Amino acid sequence: MKFVVATNNGGKLQEFRDILKEFGHEAVSLKEVNIDTDFEETGETFRENAYMKAGTIAKLSGLPTIADDSGLMVEALGGEPGVYSARYCGRHGDDAANNEKLLEKMKGNKERRAKFVSAVCAVFPDGRVLQAEGECPGEILHEPKGNGGFGYDPLFYVPALGKTFAQMDKTEKNMVSHRKKALDKLKILLSK
Ligand code: IMP
Repeated sequence: MKFVVATNNGGKLQEFRDILKEFGHEAVSLKEVNIDTDFEETGETFRENAYMKAGTIAKLSGLPTIADDSGLMVEALGGEPGVYSARYCGRHGDDAANNEKLLEKMKGNKERRAKFVSAVCAVFPDGRVLQAEGECPGEILHEPKGNGGFGYDPLFYVPALGKTFAQMDKTEKNMVSHRKKALDKLKILLSK
């Protein structure tokens, strides 16, 4: 099946392309369906925001649409940055400034546990809605490591693989990532 992916984030789009391909589905970008829009993320949960994004684009495109709303939740910061992950520093999508703010807030903190969370949502033209969530546990490093990926990848260390997300190739990240786990669950719902 062909899914429009409701995101303006190039890093996420690539991950969706790879994972959906592995499942035998095809990902189409907003650009490919001539939609140019910014998303309002006014929900209080990842789940609400994912539904809003997928619903908006399914309506505009008339095609099956998948969205994810995701973010980093840091234990010592009471779950921050959470749904504000993309705009933690005050500007949307400034990864360098978001990482800097996170490091500043974690300065001197020995408790480094964190997790990435992804809520995925598929909305179909007939109004059907499927939702699933995935998590990946890890730790916040004291300095960035690795050059790959996007967002907080260089600061997020995954003990299970002994690397940050930014040090992993896409196969490794897709073995453990929150987005892959959420899409694995969605795949089961899609097959029902
Ligand atoms: P949104 O879901 O598009 O609102 O933004 C999610 C934000 O969370 C991104 O801009 C990143 O800052 C962060 N994020 C989500 N998933 C990942 C990931 O896999 N790696 C790094 N950062 C991520």
